[in-house]
Amino acid sequence: MSLPRIVGFTANLQRPSKTRALAESLAEAVGARVRAEIRLFDMLDAGTGLGAAWSRDLLPLPARRIVEAIEGADALIVGSPVYKGSYTGLFKHLFDFVEPSALVGKPVILSATGGGARHALVVEHSLRPLFGFFSAHTIPSAVYGSDADFRDGVPVDAGVQARIQDAASQLADLLGARAARAGAPEVTSPVAAFASAG
Ligand SMILES: Cc1cc2nc3c(=O)[nH]c(=O)nc-3n(C[C@H](O)[C@H](O)[C@H](O)COP(=O)(O)O)c2cc1C
Repeated sequence: MSLPRIVGFTANLQRPSKTRALAESLAEAVGARVRAEIRLFDMLDAGTGLGAAWSRDLLPLPARRIVEAIEGADALIVGSPVYKGSYTGLFKHLFDFVEPSALVGKPVILSATGGGARHALVVEHSLRPLFGFFSAHTIPSAVYGSDADFRDGVPVDAGVQARIQDAASQLADLLGARAARAGAPEVTSPVAAFASAG
């Protein structure tokens, strides 16, 4: 059986990046719990041509590949730096090219970083509604880190670390339950059983 494909996408415009580092920590925590093929992309992988593309047909190849990887994934880890109180414009621009039906029911870990703690709820007020539009299955524990939560470029704050582990466990449980259901024999519903008995 093929491994679940988990795709991370973060909207950082620089490297090193706290947003990418947070997604890497999430990917590591997920990878410790689930056997999966995990790939991470960021805005630098998409390239500057993304901003100039006004339709999917005009997407440069690197950005198109990321959109396709997102659409084809079994689960996502997404992250954005906070810019002016929300996810970045380019983060939204990339997701504007994602097929509306492609993320239905797809598990998504939400994450963001900001300069301070003031905009910590961006994960709830900006990211969760966007993935609600897609009818994605957002993981209950979203993760936000501010400058003070990082040391040497990695998230070290105990609270952030705990949320990373929580989010990873919740995603792993969901993937595990889905895998078990996919392998389980078909269950006859009580309604069908009753109908056939009559
Ligand atoms: C244009 C711009 C706007 C920003 N706006 C906010 C903001 O509204 N709130 C906040 O907490 N941090 C804000 N920041 C700080 C970044 O969110 C923060 O430094 C982030 O962790 C950078 O992530 P990165 O290291 O992945 O690039 C802003 C930074 C830039 C460049």
